[in-house]
Amino acid sequence: MRVLVTGGTGYIGSTAVEMLLNQGFDISILDDCSMGHADTVPAGVRFIQGSLLNSDEVADSLADCQVVMHFAGKSLVGESVKQPDLYHLVNVGGTRILLDEMRKQSISKLVFSSSAATYGEPEVLPILETSPTNPTNPYGATKLAIDQMITSEAAAHGLSAASLRYFNVAGAIKTDRGWLAERHNPETHLIPNVLRSTTENPVKIFGTDWPTADGTCIRDYVHVIDLIDAHVKALHSLKDSAHEIYNLGSGSGYSVREVVAAANTAIGHQIPSIDTARRAGDPAVLIADISKAKARLDWEPTRDLNTMVSDTLKSMA
Ligand SMILES: NC(=O)c1ccc[n+]([C@@H]2O[C@H](COP(=O)([O-])OP(=O)(O)OC[C@H]3O[C@@H](n4cnc5c(N)ncnc54)[C@H](O)[C@@H]3O)[C@@H](O)[C@H]2O)c1
Repeated sequence: MRVLVTGGTGYIGSTAVEMLLNQGFDISILDDCSMGHADTVPAGVRFIQGSLLNSDEVADSLADCQVVMHFAGKSLVGESVKQPDLYHLVNVGGTRILLDEMRKQSISKLVFSSSAATYGEPEVLPILETSPTNPTNPYGATKLAIDQMITSEAAAHGLSAASLRYFNVAGAIKTDRGWLAERHNPETHLIPNVLRSTTENPVKIFGTDWPTADGTCIRDYVHVIDLIDAHVKALHSLKDSAHEIYNLGSGSGYSVREVVAAANTAIGHQIPSIDTARRAGDPAVLIADISKAKARLDWEPTRDLNTMVSDTLKSMA
């Protein structure tokens, strides 16, 4: 089976490419490398350096594929607030082009990278797939618009799809060619930023007066290898003309101070950090209810926070 991995040179997409290849899938990649890195592409993979916004390049990349794993897109929350039009164009418009070209080539299986950002501030914890969706930024709004577009495409044109709503993804995979690191510029994710913290440029802890045990925000993290395991299970679970949504996280949260403590242990010394004021728009606690993925996909994350932090550290070496 040949899988098109859009965004296959990015952090999560390149991990998917590695794991799918190891499981015997044939792989094509479409990525414009605006955030990804062409040097992650392994031998034996068909790589189209092109854009989701170019229908000819999308059509070319789909040749001989039976399935699409769609990771490509823009995913910086702050940037999406400043450039909502760009996020709408690339994420929603790009996915529209992808769905149209898939239909032309009778490719009817899709696994999509959605996000916990579709939910916004939760009314009830942990967050279920049936929880209200009120995204608080344009990035989350584009992911929700895509999920809705996929639901319509399944109903109208027989697409079989899964949207996987990731919480925070961390860790890395080791390959024969070395570690596939998270190489974002700018990096907005807590774990790599904690590990890069220096006395000159200490990591900021936004708010120490939240209603949590240690006063810092709590977030749900999932190891990138566990995450891609769920993609493969979701692919095998696809049903005709149906669109299923699954939360992917650990089902429990870690506070920012707990992440810093895990990083202290991994790195072997006290990491510099400074306590600052709360950041506007940050909910105190975000935790996924992952019981649907456990029950329907027979999936369970197996790597804990210490593994995520130490694998991230090794990948940065
Ligand atoms: N990293 C996380 O914690 C997280 C959490 C929730 C959801 N997600 C989603 O998972 C997906 C992958 O995330 P990531 O962290 O690997 O991001 P990433 O930026 O590393 O990967 C995205 C890839 O898409 C490519 N891309 C961007 N615009 C493109 C276009 N127009 N045409 C072709 N390729 C294009 C980039 O070059 C990059 O390689 C994204 O859709 C993201 O929104 C990530």
